[in-house]
Amino acid sequence: MTTVVVVGTQWGDEGKGKITDYLSEDAKIIARYQGGDNAGHTLKMNDKVYKLRSVPSGILYSDKVSLIGNGVVLNLESLSEELKRLHEQGVDTSNLKISNRAHIILPYHIKLDKLQEESRGDSKVGTTNRGIGPAYMDKAARIGIRMIDILDKETFAEVLKDNLDQKNELFTKLYNSDPMEFDDIFENYYQIGQELKDRVIDTSAFLNKEINNGENVLFEGAQGVMLDIDHGTYPYVTSSNPAGGVSTGAGVGGPMIDRVVGVVKAYSSRVGEGPFPTQLDDEIGDFIRERGHEYGTVTKRPRRVGWIDTVVLKHACNVSGVTHLALNVLDVLTGLEEIKVCTGYELNGKVITEYPASLKELSNCKPVYKTFAGWDQDITSIKSLEDLPHEALEYLDFLKNQLGVSYSTVSVGPDRSQTIPVSDVWK
Ligand code: IMP
Repeated sequence: MTTVVVVGTQWGDEGKGKITDYLSEDAKIIARYQGGDNAGHTLKMNDKVYKLRSVPSGILYSDKVSLIGNGVVLNLESLSEELKRLHEQGVDTSNLKISNRAHIILPYHIKLDKLQEESRGDSKVGTTNRGIGPAYMDKAARIGIRMIDILDKETFAEVLKDNLDQKNELFTKLYNSDPMEFDDIFENYYQIGQELKDRVIDTSAFLNKEINNGENVLFEGAQGVMLDIDHGTYPYVTSSNPAGGVSTGAGVGGPMIDRVVGVVKAYSSRVGEGPFPTQLDDEIGDFIRERGHEYGTVTKRPRRVGWIDTVVLKHACNVSGVTHLALNVLDVLTGLEEIKVCTGYELNGKVITEYPASLKELSNCKPVYKTFAGWDQDITSIKSLEDLPHEALEYLDFLKNQLGVSYSTVSVGPDRSQTIPVSDVWK
């Protein structure tokens, strides 16, 4: 048996969906361990387009188990719609299992997310407005409502009433907004809970049993390390742990994890607010944004783009134990005369290579770049590494040596067939 984690090494949107799909082939179970429907990816298969938010990408394979772990916060309405859409597209979703300990996002979390963002004014986080932060706040405050609670009518009614009383105090007294009605939430959520009931299990017990039986498991991280609540650019982060959250979020011990594939884009991108030292606000940035279709899947916002940053990547590799890199969208850089790689930051006359925790220091950091020659050749049908232009190989070699991690794959286009295999992480 082998267990592999896929984690984004930047600010999300590194193309984890494609790599998860690619690696799924050898896995029996594909499990999500954090985040919620703030994530979103599009998968193409046999000319059909599938849009996924909460459901793991393994759902497209009827012989695999898709699992939503306890560390995920679940929007039941959007999950139910997602499942309906998949049914309409002919996908068999009977193999989806949901943790009985996963916390539920309720309509008051979404309302609170919006109100909190509005009240922060210029220092807003730029969230996806999906209620993610408030749902994790309730979990940490020990007042959250879990999947298991929603299945029992009495328990659900009791905890919902308590929560709603507290939230309505906030809405009316602090935010000068309207209260929410119990009846508008209760029946609907109870009904969806009943529809999902047969899928609800102790996913940690299930995973441990399957791993001990020798099955391969793929853990699918959402967002990216720089959005991790502990290791990211706090407070401009999401409220969960993409880096290392697999143990708590799926209920499998650290030593059971064999490989960690860090997905990295050949450049950087970020949505929402927060520090981004290598951001490009020029025509090169526009070129990369258009060529790379850098617009949010969930929010449609144009993404901020910039050069690749090895200070960020080294930090990401350290905190999430990356063993292999899956480098994506190398083809987007084709046609650029020069390609830059940030190797350190200049701060107060010194060059530093560790990502600062202080936002103030970060805002004074100036990236130090190493410049590489670009290439013009179309690389989108190249099937093996040695056929890439020597300029692209130099760029890839430099990154690999700088980070001390080898490649699992290098992607030269969005399609599955445009993935150059370098080393097999399942062996
Ligand atoms: P939240 O997760 O909605 O609370 O948003 C917190 C921050 O994480 C915001 O900057 C979002 O834009 C960002 N974010 C959340 N999910 C994703 C994602 O899947 N890709 C990229 N950014 C994300």
